[in-house]
Amino acid sequence: MKITKKLIGGNWKMNADLNNVNEVAKYKEVITEQIDIFIAVPYVYLRDCSKVFPENINLAAQDLSCHEKGPFTGEISARNLKDFEVKYVLVGHSERRANHRESNSAINEKIKISIKNEIRPVLCIGESEEVRREGNYLDFLYLQFKESSKDLKNVSFDIAYEPIWAIGSGKAATASQITEIIIKIKQWMKESFIEGRCIYGGSVSNKNIEKLKQIDCLDGFLIGDSSLDSRFIEIIEKYMLKDL
Ligand code: PGA
Repeated sequence: MKITKKLIGGNWKMNADLNNVNEVAKYKEVITEQIDIFIAVPYVYLRDCSKVFPENINLAAQDLSCHEKGPFTGEISARNLKDFEVKYVLVGHSERRANHRESNSAINEKIKISIKNEIRPVLCIGESEEVRREGNYLDFLYLQFKESSKDLKNVSFDIAYEPIWAIGSGKAATASQITEIIIKIKQWMKESFIEGRCIYGGSVSNKNIEKLKQIDCLDGFLIGDSSLDSRFIEIIEKYMLKDL
């Protein structure tokens, strides 16, 4: 079934503490009928978040193991996440690819295991500044997509385009840069019989959301730093506000 709702996700990375968790309880008033919202929190706060998050904010994890269970010290399984009613999981975030050498084939396993356990994966793809400068970024992104979605068809998951050079830089990609990639990703998904939304991430803020929301082909956003406090709600409200 095709998902028609837009999606806004927050990614707290390793920047949150219990104060951030308790702040979210105040987000109740956000109108969410036409939009899906999640916040990807550090594992250790899943229990607290599952208690204080309002119903309209879905709980998400920032990663999961590519194994069902077994001797994998320090890892968290899809089943562990299910115990806390986690609805979404980020898979293949560029920081995990860079800092933990995550390969596309491991990411492929993670997507499969999430879907099997009814946790909706959000596959993150994105090129470095160097790859963009060299000009072959479409091939690079296609390889990330193709290898990460190997053997997957007639399934539904979301994809976040997050250029590494825009993440945490304070400078989002331009509308034409985003449009070029999102249209391609949608085409690749269609050709692979994958259904899902395409969102953008990389320095999305309460300052630039009004401009970014004009990009027609986008189905939403993934927000890092600005998801840590009430800026997140401001972004959602500005995003939902219809232009006159
Ligand atoms: P940022 O991070 O919004 O702080 O740039 C986005 C992300 O890494 O998901």
